[in-house]
Amino acid sequence: MQDIIRQLEKKRELARLGGGQKRIDAQHRKGKLTARERIELLLDDDSFEEWDMYKEHRCTEFGMDAEHIPGDGVVTGYGTVNGRLVFVFSQDFTVFGGSLSETHAEKICKVMDHAMKVGAPVIGLNDSGGARIQEGVDSLGGYADVFQRNVLASGVIPQISLIMGPCAGGAVYSPAMTDFIFMVKDSSYMFVTGPEVVKTVTHEEVTAEELGGAVTHNTKSGVADLAFENDVEALMMTRRLIGFLPSSNREKPPAIPCADSADRIDLSLDTLVPENPNQPYDMKELIFKMVDDGDFFELQPDYAKNIIIGLARMEGSPVGIVANQPLVLAGCLDIKSSIKAARFVRFCDAFNIPVVTLVDVPGFMPGTAQEYGGIIKHGAKLLYAYAECTVPKVTLITRKAYGGAYDVMSSKHLRGDVNLAWPSAEIAVMGAKGAVEIIFREEKGDPEKLAQREAEYKARFANPFVAASRGFIDDVVMPHNTRKRICRSLAMLRDKQLDNPWRKHGNIPL
Ligand code: COA
Repeated sequence: MQDIIRQLEKKRELARLGGGQKRIDAQHRKGKLTARERIELLLDDDSFEEWDMYKEHRCTEFGMDAEHIPGDGVVTGYGTVNGRLVFVFSQDFTVFGGSLSETHAEKICKVMDHAMKVGAPVIGLNDSGGARIQEGVDSLGGYADVFQRNVLASGVIPQISLIMGPCAGGAVYSPAMTDFIFMVKDSSYMFVTGPEVVKTVTHEEVTAEELGGAVTHNTKSGVADLAFENDVEALMMTRRLIGFLPSSNREKPPAIPCADSADRIDLSLDTLVPENPNQPYDMKELIFKMVDDGDFFELQPDYAKNIIIGLARMEGSPVGIVANQPLVLAGCLDIKSSIKAARFVRFCDAFNIPVVTLVDVPGFMPGTAQEYGGIIKHGAKLLYAYAECTVPKVTLITRKAYGGAYDVMSSKHLRGDVNLAWPSAEIAVMGAKGAVEIIFREEKGDPEKLAQREAEYKARFANPFVAASRGFIDDVVMPHNTRKRICRSLAMLRDKQLDNPWRKHGNIPL
């Protein structure tokens, strides 16, 4: 028996070494951790249960029959994050460059299948040279097996992707289908075709970092949700994200005890909105002052900054926050911000996370770039997302809510449950100046008269009371009481039940 135990120990040791010490050292020299080191940091101490440590590829082409490394380039299993079950796969770049073979894919599919059966998140740590070149179509089939599972798991269990090395070609489409993508600066990249192919086809000279690095995908493409300085930070923030999420769509998100009083008032909010309606202010100040302990986990902070999205807690329970940002493009909705917010609203809806919407929106962004780019279709995504959303929806209008954008931003008409406004709210078809220039076109040459008309229009519409008189606004609240009023609304809505009519699926404008 002792012999067998020693043999097992040896086998395990060999598997843990992956592609060998030389390749591990090379990984460290690049500032990257190994697949197993990453899992250790991600999961609670001593909670990792590894599966398929001895699984090997079955390829015999190109000398592969002579090269067998146990585990085949991916470490898989399950463990806990703050005591809550998660499944994990971590690609091992030291083994055949972390490339995906048929067996490598089978290992990933196994954890995904179990995660679906028990209802727990899957976290994928990606660091791979792509399809195992020696395997050809077997490896491509493996990718598709993973993709299919990503799609079936979408909206059922949270799926999180960390990009911690190369992720190119077909490999990008598994992370692309997951809920969140976190990238590590300077050591990770994602692209469909690399710099060499780009140069040949389009004659553009671009580095891998410029084409698909963390900064690119967090500022230009919007593919990624956050960028981190190193592996450790990315893993720690993944643990933090998991804390906001339910394990599956069968659960509510986890509530924690809250020391921050729901009744806390904040007098500084009474002066947040400037007297001059054209002067911007920072909507994040309201978010920080409203949520529990000022703790806001912002997503996509450097992309489409005219809208803010992220997770926070109110009275200990997670909420999703969507807020126009008057500091950027005056808070206008455009193509990028509509898509950014729509996907987040749908995520919250899928996972029973109430949505709190803070509105200060002067309308949709005008211009040929927006119209040619399809703002009609993309703006419709946000409208569609809010309209189909059945989780509790609490909306607060702080200042402008003009035109179609008023309707879109979780209005009463789109089944907003509680719609509040600050006294500074202006709910109208458009701003007073633009409105009188259209209605009183014939008085264009008389600035005095126009100014008078503008004042009349403002007095009539630049307030929340017309909407409140129709019941479209449930109450006009004091800014300093915002936290209290929203906490109460969310508490009242805790057991909300609402179903959409049965259908195979809707046809969201894509
Ligand atoms: N299939 C099989 N083996 C692969 C591989 C793949 N797709 N990608 C990398 N490897 C192997 C390399 O042969 C090398 O093996 P070795 O350690 O035995 O020499 C090891 O992984 C490390 O690769 P290396 O090229 O030395 O690392 P790098 O950091 O310099 O470059 C890449 C990383 C990903 C840019 C480079 O490996 C690459 O271009 N790979 C191919 C990408 C591709 O075209 N994939 C298929 C399409 S999806």
